[in-house]
Amino acid sequence: MKRVKITVVGAGNVGGTTAQRIAERDYADVVLVDIVDGLPQGKALDLLQSAPIYGYHTNLIGTTDYADTAGSDIIVITSGVARKPGMSRDDLLKTNAEIVGSVVDQAVRYSPAAVIIVVSNPLDAMTQLTLRRSGFPRHRVFGQAGVLDSARFCTFIAQELNVSIENVHAMVLGGHGDTMVPLSRYTTVAGIPVTELIPPARLREIEQRTADGGAEIVRYLKTGSAFYAPSAATLEMIDAVVRDKKKILPCCVMLEGEYGINGLCVGVPVKLGARGVEEIVELKLTPEEDAALKRSAAAVKELVDVLGV
Ligand code: LAC
Repeated sequence: MKRVKITVVGAGNVGGTTAQRIAERDYADVVLVDIVDGLPQGKALDLLQSAPIYGYHTNLIGTTDYADTAGSDIIVITSGVARKPGMSRDDLLKTNAEIVGSVVDQAVRYSPAAVIIVVSNPLDAMTQLTLRRSGFPRHRVFGQAGVLDSARFCTFIAQELNVSIENVHAMVLGGHGDTMVPLSRYTTVAGIPVTELIPPARLREIEQRTADGGAEIVRYLKTGSAFYAPSAATLEMIDAVVRDKKKILPCCVMLEGEYGINGLCVGVPVKLGARGVEEIVELKLTPEEDAALKRSAAAVKELVDVLGV
């Protein structure tokens, strides 16, 4: 049987770690692409040489030539520059739009039936750019952010309550930026709403730390941004597609009237399976939650308007 083929574009920290995580799953072959000649080849060869020890059969190649990506089932786009301390994700807009635009043009030419997962920042604007530029239907282009943001929210809640992270299920909506909407009312610990376990003021602090989660790591690293959790989040989405899980995860997707938002890519819960986004799940929101989501969508729209996509 033909193995799944996954292209990871961008051989930096996020791309390299994502390629590693896919390889270790042992269910797909991986093509790692970068414009910097040598970087994808070196990382792919290094990962290939881990196979005898780790025990995976993944074939990995590194390349600068998109012809090698032909016929990919999934394309993960991680290309672009990362933040430096003090920068917001939005500061990356113009630079990364040029990079991602050219990646999309080349990648879709060789893999017209692929599912595309966007990881580059600013995430929501890059997802929208990718959707428009590819001409793909919306179910085959979506962005990773809600899974990462929810994972951060889960981590902080588990720490706060000193419970297993396995007990915590969190939901974060909106754009992947300062205006993201950690949704405490839909966040549970062993089925118990977290709002019954953590006092409101403390919960607000945890929500705020979640929204600042990426910046907190940029401040530590100084020369780049997070990559372990972002690549783990990306893998959870890839897993859902490869294994046709029908898993409900928050992802950035083009809304066409859902949540009262039209023509904008924003993070909402979706059902992910082999076809990509198989359903958009509409949660009932309180007026405050709805207003927060609309504020977040407005922030995304500002960026999208700058790009004219
Ligand atoms: C973060 C960056 C990668 O949230 O967006 O860590």
